[in-house]
Amino acid sequence: MNISHEDKVSMGFEHRRDLCYGEAEFLHFVPLIEAMNPQKGDVFYDIGCGTARPLVVAALAYSNFISKCKGVELLEGLADTAKKCAERTAILSAEAEIENIPAIEIIKGDLFEYDWPKDADLVFCANVLLGDELNERLTDMMAQLRKGVRVAVLNALPQRPYLKKYFQMITRMSWGYHTCIYYEIV
Ligand SMILES: C[S@@+](CC[C@H](N)C(=O)[O-])C[C@H]1O[C@@H](n2cnc3c(N)ncnc32)[C@H](O)[C@@H]1O
Repeated sequence: MNISHEDKVSMGFEHRRDLCYGEAEFLHFVPLIEAMNPQKGDVFYDIGCGTARPLVVAALAYSNFISKCKGVELLEGLADTAKKCAERTAILSAEAEIENIPAIEIIKGDLFEYDWPKDADLVFCANVLLGDELNERLTDMMAQLRKGVRVAVLNALPQRPYLKKYFQMITRMSWGYHTCIYYEIV
């Protein structure tokens, strides 16, 4: 929370509500990924990854399925912290001799400028504070995803012919309970 606030001040983004911070809870995030039905070799993305909690959970809990975890984060301090968490996860898993933990890659930048649809199989976005206009832009980007990709979001997406809602569940985030909505690209 403090890192996010400091980043917003130093980067001149104080007014941006879409960059407000809150994060996933480790144990509650496991069933959230399970409902995305991970398949062998899948690439998992968290677009707006904060300090990388969802990526670490995906790497540790779904190492038999997920081949790579990738996160995009605009705020520099958060992205740097996410990179440290990713490195620490790799070091601790190696020390504990846990094999096949997928690499976690952090991309510092704007999710609306990075081409995440090109290699994503599973996409999570905690889009609670994006607002209508950015949610529309996010949904438009999903037209580039290949058929069969699963998307989990915390705010319903506007209707599109390529989006089929298949599930929803209650999850717990750092700020409390929230509905998670699932779509498949058709
Ligand atoms: C609610 S937090 C969720 C963090 C993380 N996904 C989690 O669930 O633990 C949303 C994150 O998205 C980031 N974010 C918002 N808009 C973004 C954008 N345009 N590009 C990259 N990151 C963005 C924010 O800085 C924040 O870290």
